[in-house]
Amino acid sequence: MEQIEWSSLGFGYVKTDYNVRCYYRDGKWGELEVTSDESINIHMAATCLHYGQEAFEGLKAFKGKDGKVRIFRMDENAKRMIRSAEGVVMAPVPQELFEAACIKAVKMNERFIPPYESGASLYIRPLLIGLGAQVGVKPAPEYLFIVFVTPVGPYFKEGFKPTPMAIMRSYDRAAPLGTGTIKVGGNYAAGMIPTVLAHEKGYSACLFLDAKEKKYIDECGPANFFGIKDNTYITPESSSILPSITNMSLMQLAKDLGMKVERRPVPEEELLEFEEAGACGTAAVISPILRIDDLDEHKTYEISKDGKPGKHCEKLYNTLRAIQYGDAPDVHGWVKVID
Ligand code: PLP
Ligand code: COI
Repeated sequence: MEQIEWSSLGFGYVKTDYNVRCYYRDGKWGELEVTSDESINIHMAATCLHYGQEAFEGLKAFKGKDGKVRIFRMDENAKRMIRSAEGVVMAPVPQELFEAACIKAVKMNERFIPPYESGASLYIRPLLIGLGAQVGVKPAPEYLFIVFVTPVGPYFKEGFKPTPMAIMRSYDRAAPLGTGTIKVGGNYAAGMIPTVLAHEKGYSACLFLDAKEKKYIDECGPANFFGIKDNTYITPESSSILPSITNMSLMQLAKDLGMKVERRPVPEEELLEFEEAGACGTAAVISPILRIDDLDEHKTYEISKDGKPGKHCEKLYNTLRAIQYGDAPDVHGWVKVID
């Protein structure tokens, strides 16, 4: 294969050798299939194309100093994909099938797992789509579950360095009782305009407010939000954000590090009080926030005073990465070592 520059990888698609697939037909899941074909041949009237019957996941495999490969919290991604499937009335992928497919995809593409020293990882992308010719709005008769992998570096090109984010009040990502808590493509489509605008204006992401009151912080397009003040890790409680597995892990690690943890609505004005803030997610890991500009209210919240990640962000980042790469003991049982 062409030599991959592991340490300069961004977050993009790199072709690997194989992907893994499984079809749901006649009310049951079939056998896992392995293929090198990167394309899928589906009917033009498939429900995934018209009515958004689609869900995906994102998780990572890491190569340790000891040469072992670890997948982080795969069980949680499996459970979330079941919730996502149920949320748009698709056949859920059983947890065992989800895990077997991820492990197979990682093992079959072992040579694409970035080396420990690179700081990169293998991103695992499970995808579930509704198939079958259908024009009426109703659930598909058949489904396809695919897992592909691709080696990745940081999601935000700056890596672990504070970046500015923007609040744009004329766009919502998800409604309070909508699909914000599940990982379906429509949420990302809804956030596409503000995301593109934010990038054009030099921001790394758009930070969405709650759609109902426009008062509380929800999350950014690809990651959850957290703020830190008085040795306390504070993250939004909201009915329109994705329950991030990274955020769940950081809440536990913050407690382990002697911090207090609060999960509650976070009003925009509280941004004035945070000593540190960040976006967190599988792709983003922790992305410290430099500044948040509310573009409609013409307000600026300076978060990082010196342009560097704060000490709590740094500690949390290092602690999480150490568990993922196997440098620290996996005391919470978060890691699956692949033999
Ligand atoms: N929020 C959104 C909208 C996301 O797409 C993601 C990424 O999966 C996250 C949060 C972070 O979730 P996780 O930590 O489980 O990757
Ligand atoms: C992830 O962090 O895994 C995501 O899915 C975020 C993004 C790439 C949409």
